[in-house]
Amino acid sequence: MPDHPDIRVQPIDASLRSALLELAVHEAQYDFVGPIAVSLVDAEACEGSEPMAILRDGAPIGFYRLEYRPRSIADMDFERATVGLRSFFIDARWQGQGLGARALAAALADLAQRHPQMRDVVLTVNLRNTAALALYRRAGFRETGGLYHGGRSGPQHVMLCALPL
Ligand SMILES: CC(C)(COP(=O)(O)OP(=O)(O)OC[C@H]1O[C@@H](n2cnc3c(N)ncnc32)[C@H](O)[C@@H]1OP(=O)(O)O)[C@@H](O)C(=O)NCCC(=O)NCCS
Repeated sequence: MPDHPDIRVQPIDASLRSALLELAVHEAQYDFVGPIAVSLVDAEACEGSEPMAILRDGAPIGFYRLEYRPRSIADMDFERATVGLRSFFIDARWQGQGLGARALAAALADLAQRHPQMRDVVLTVNLRNTAALALYRRAGFRETGGLYHGGRSGPQHVMLCALPL
């Protein structure tokens, strides 16, 4: 195996679905993301949502969804063209190897390439979720200062990241 596996992201199609449904996070992390089966079906059903796969050497290791109606992220509006990112996770077997950071970079690059009119990405992250906070800060996300109280596991930071022009 190469030292640096190929990390890509792509919209989910039927060929990826069954492998994606095998993915899971650690039990305690379900405070922060829903089960893939729920997130995937919900993203497929919601207008303005796009379910995305994170692939390692072509095989799914993670998931996230893009929200083209960013108000759904934290009940707030944005002056600039903004896309929401939610339900981002790396399968428990693949965490802690730097793949989350690479996947997030790939997700931002994909957005900049496919949606050059988008200026910012917004997400919420639970105050207790130190791993995700470190990941997002390192990728360039910054807290807006506001807290979102709409989640089921306690207050969340609202974070924004500018996409490369
Ligand atoms: C958050 C998550 C995506 C990180 O994925 P990952 O592949 O393990 O992350 P990486 O190995 O690329 O590490 C990214 C950063 O997180 C930090 N990190 C990873 N696991 C950590 C842990 N258990 N505790 C503290 N920090 C941790 C790393 O140190 C790194 O920070 P650094 O670059 O400042 O050193 C993963 O833990 C996950 O899927 N968690 C469950 C779902 C979730 O919480 N999603 C976020 C919803 S907002």
